[in-house]
Amino acid sequence: MLSRNPARPVAAPPLPAPRGPLSAAVITALREDREAGAPTLDADPYGADLQLALYCLYELHYRGFAGVADEREWDPALLTVRAALERLFTDALRADVEPSDDVGAELDALLVEPVEGQGPSWYLKKEGEPWQVREYVAHRSLYHLKEADPQAWVIARLDGPAKAALVTVEHDEYGAGDPDRMHAQLFADMMRALDLDDTYGAYLDAAPAETLAEVNLMSLCGLHRRLRGALIGQFATVELTSSPGSDRLVRAMRRLGLPEAAVEFYAEHVEADAVHEQLVRRGVIAPLLAGEPALAADVVFGIRASGFLADRFGAHLLGCWAQDRTSLRHPLPDHAARASSA
Ligand SMILES: [Fe+2]
Ligand SMILES: [Fe+2]
Repeated sequence: MLSRNPARPVAAPPLPAPRGPLSAAVITALREDREAGAPTLDADPYGADLQLALYCLYELHYRGFAGVADEREWDPALLTVRAALERLFTDALRADVEPSDDVGAELDALLVEPVEGQGPSWYLKKEGEPWQVREYVAHRSLYHLKEADPQAWVIARLDGPAKAALVTVEHDEYGAGDPDRMHAQLFADMMRALDLDDTYGAYLDAAPAETLAEVNLMSLCGLHRRLRGALIGQFATVELTSSPGSDRLVRAMRRLGLPEAAVEFYAEHVEADAVHEQLVRRGVIAPLLAGEPALAADVVFGIRASGFLADRFGAHLLGCWAQDRTSLRHPLPDHAARASSA
């Protein structure tokens, strides 16, 4: 099927501004086409400096950055830095989440919805304001404009029924043959309807560490074959929890009277992810663990690490909003102010 939208030129985003010595070393090495030096490794594993450095190194495997040669993707010195940062991040996550290999209990727990939950989607549904919905979408754009890409890395590492079922879900994420229905495209449509910039990477400089860490976990697990079990756990977390969460965001947007064009992305996920939930559980995880039972502990690790980082993200947003201040590093330009000054 052909797209009804005109093709847009593909442009890599600009490099972001550094946020400390680690990210400065990586960004300078990329900007000035120099070899990266050995990093100092006393950084906070969840802090903005390390998370931004890691994000930039991962981005070389997706769209890259303007002015950075494609060859830097496999630059040995940059890969050495990346490995050191990944070790800090994974060591911290392994220390912060309890180990378990009971995948069934973990999946059951994901499906239990609290009567009155705590996260941003609950807040937005009940009392959020339009500026908070726009901020939430700006944060989420770091992943959703490349939705399903980190999980696509795992396809070649799976076999038989698990591979077939995962590709079925991925096919839907990429629009099931209709480029205008790609979830990344629906997300971009929603951003424009909310008067946000849908350019890839537009909100990287505005994104705090908590936002970067969630995307970095996906890239980390996607790029390492040894973490294929964790990637499936992360994928399961998204697919099993997305349907009710998306429903809350649809209700938030309708309550606030936001444009119907903005609602479509989450409305699509209420439907699609109810189906994906079953496909992931029975189609992907069951045959994966039948073939490779030793992956069970890593599937649980992927689920728990995703939940841990999602909780940090949610706490950051709600903490900022409780003080009536922006959850981004700088507030979004206000639509009304811009319209009146135009
Ligand atoms: Fe999706
Ligand atoms: Fe899905």
